[in-house]
Amino acid sequence: MHRLSLFMIALVGCLSITGATEFNCKRGTGFPKEVCYVPECTNAIKDHIKYEFNAAFKYMYMGAYFGQDVVDRPGISKFLLEAASEERSHAIQMLDYLNLRGIKIDSTLGYSFDADTILETSFTYQGALEEALNMEIEVTDLINNVVAKCADDYHGADVFTNPILDEQHDGVRKLQGAVKALHDLSAGYGTPAGLNLAEYLFDKKMMSGEF
Ligand SMILES: [Fe+2]
Repeated sequence: MHRLSLFMIALVGCLSITGATEFNCKRGTGFPKEVCYVPECTNAIKDHIKYEFNAAFKYMYMGAYFGQDVVDRPGISKFLLEAASEERSHAIQMLDYLNLRGIKIDSTLGYSFDADTILETSFTYQGALEEALNMEIEVTDLINNVVAKCADDYHGADVFTNPILDEQHDGVRKLQGAVKALHDLSAGYGTPAGLNLAEYLFDKKMMSGEF
């Protein structure tokens, strides 16, 4: 009975080892160097970077839209342009991470920006905040997928969990607060002129960095 138990434990151990994703380790020539990675994880990171760039371009466009003299909402414009820089910095952070792990960066990454598919010609104030919130929620879901694909690459999973996933949750929470606050401020104003005033006042809050 005792011998059978030991055999079962050894069998389960062997199965779990062979079932794990293999690290693809390559020894370099010359200076002692080894690159180890889980292709499923690094490919997920490479694929994800384009979503960060798309978000950056979209925020940049929206920020410029609200900064025009005919729209003139400097608060949300500043917020969106800062968000654009943040998304771009996420993409750079991820490219840096691939470099840290010795993953080849070449033209196969193939990032491009298709303006027609992701830009609209105009936004309402509330619509822009909701659009930004939806975009952050979508990117958070995509990052969860990257973390899942990196489950066997502990360092990759760690980096994508914190700081990256942590910052996503923070961004989502801020936008949720902003959407709710604008909704509450607008609730007492039933006329278009009143809603315009609510939007103007809310933009002052955004300008002061309240959100
Ligand atoms: Fe991001």
